[in-house]
Amino acid sequence: MRTVLLEAEDDFEGWRAAARALAAAGVPAAEVDWQVAGAAPGLFGGEASPLPAAPPFPVPRAFVELAERAILHRDPERFALLHAMLLRLRDDPRAIDDHADPLLHRLEAMAKAVRRDIHKLHAFLRFREIETPERPRAIAWFEPDHHVLRAAAPFFLRRFPNMAWSILTPDLSLHWDGAVLREGPGATKADAPSGDPVEEVWKTYYGAIFNPARVKIGAMLKEMPRKYWRNMPETALVGELVRSAQARETRMVAAAAKVTGDNAEKAWASIRAEAMHCTRCDLYRCATQTVFGEGPLDAAILFVGEQPGDQEDLAGKPFVGPSGQLFDRALEEAGVDRKRTYVTNAVKHFKFVQRGKRRIHDKPNGGEIAACRWWIQQELALIRPPVTVALGATAARSLFGKAVTISALRGRGHALPQGGEAWVTVHPSFLLRVRDDREAEYAKFVEDLARIGERAKALAR
Ligand code: URA
Repeated sequence: MRTVLLEAEDDFEGWRAAARALAAAGVPAAEVDWQVAGAAPGLFGGEASPLPAAPPFPVPRAFVELAERAILHRDPERFALLHAMLLRLRDDPRAIDDHADPLLHRLEAMAKAVRRDIHKLHAFLRFREIETPERPRAIAWFEPDHHVLRAAAPFFLRRFPNMAWSILTPDLSLHWDGAVLREGPGATKADAPSGDPVEEVWKTYYGAIFNPARVKIGAMLKEMPRKYWRNMPETALVGELVRSAQARETRMVAAAAKVTGDNAEKAWASIRAEAMHCTRCDLYRCATQTVFGEGPLDAAILFVGEQPGDQEDLAGKPFVGPSGQLFDRALEEAGVDRKRTYVTNAVKHFKFVQRGKRRIHDKPNGGEIAACRWWIQQELALIRPPVTVALGATAARSLFGKAVTISALRGRGHALPQGGEAWVTVHPSFLLRVRDDREAEYAKFVEDLARIGERAKALAR
């Protein structure tokens, strides 16, 4: 019997180096005792045996990906099972495609369970804030089924780069201070605080993303096993949300019938509900919610902005922050009633860079604009406005499907292939930023809006 010592339960690199050498030398899986440093020593003691030297052999990429996940499973046999699979692949690389093979099947089930566990950690972990002498720290307690904390950590580093946070689990804890990620021993639930204002933020967030038209309790329980509920502040809301779901859906549909008397509102509600769960690009990861368009579906003018800002992201409504206030004032001066227009954005999630406590607007890139055209095209197809107005370069790019120059298109209508006209003007935030001749620029914007209003009236007649 040979002994291999791994550094940790999720020591993939250690396992890989040893398993490759052992399999290359043809050492059978039954002759290896895999031990993890710090865990209880196995039957055969704790001294590592020297690894055999043998020429390496190629391993299918799909197996490496499978092993990277399966190794995080809590089953103590995983190291030996993966070793056995590696030996099989040495003789027949096509064995990786034989999904009926019980060994491969078992390893795939392990990898699947691990992926689900990582997803649950990402989705259901909840921070609670505590004061520390240096700065506030967000602390979360979680009990994963498998050894997934290190694998899940990059998500939290991307999502909360500037916040000090700790994630405590029974096996391991991670502590981030904004610059360095440190590891600590496992913890108990009593080490994590409970109940504080962060919970209110989560409740608001969860209430906002809850979709009444889509409540499937069975599916919800499957996605969010009761085991996790006790650590989640928003689960206190679930009962009430489920009870009121039917009524809320009926109200939505009734309101729809009153506006148009046809199915347009129902279709709009369903597109919007879909958009609330949009993952077409990565912006959903950091934004609070999708900010969908709003306004009457028989509007003669549809305005397209760039993307929601900080205030829109929190409110879930387009153009309610500083740009929105300027936009409202200009519309009023131009004699256009905003309530009779439909207002939306080219990109429906807030893109920002975190600077301390502030979230600074970051321009969406071409990929994000293209991914989000999916939604705006559906809004346009449903509303079919006589006039669609692009506010700024991002909106124009989305509308025309390519980068365009505002000054070249401004001041006149452009026929759209699907019918109606596109007009292009500046974005209201340009008027907040511009230094020279701000008043003249503002007057030009009001003039554009007035002409657009007249044109929409003429086309709608
Ligand atoms: N800027 C936009 O383009 N859209 C908003 O909703 C707010 C600011």
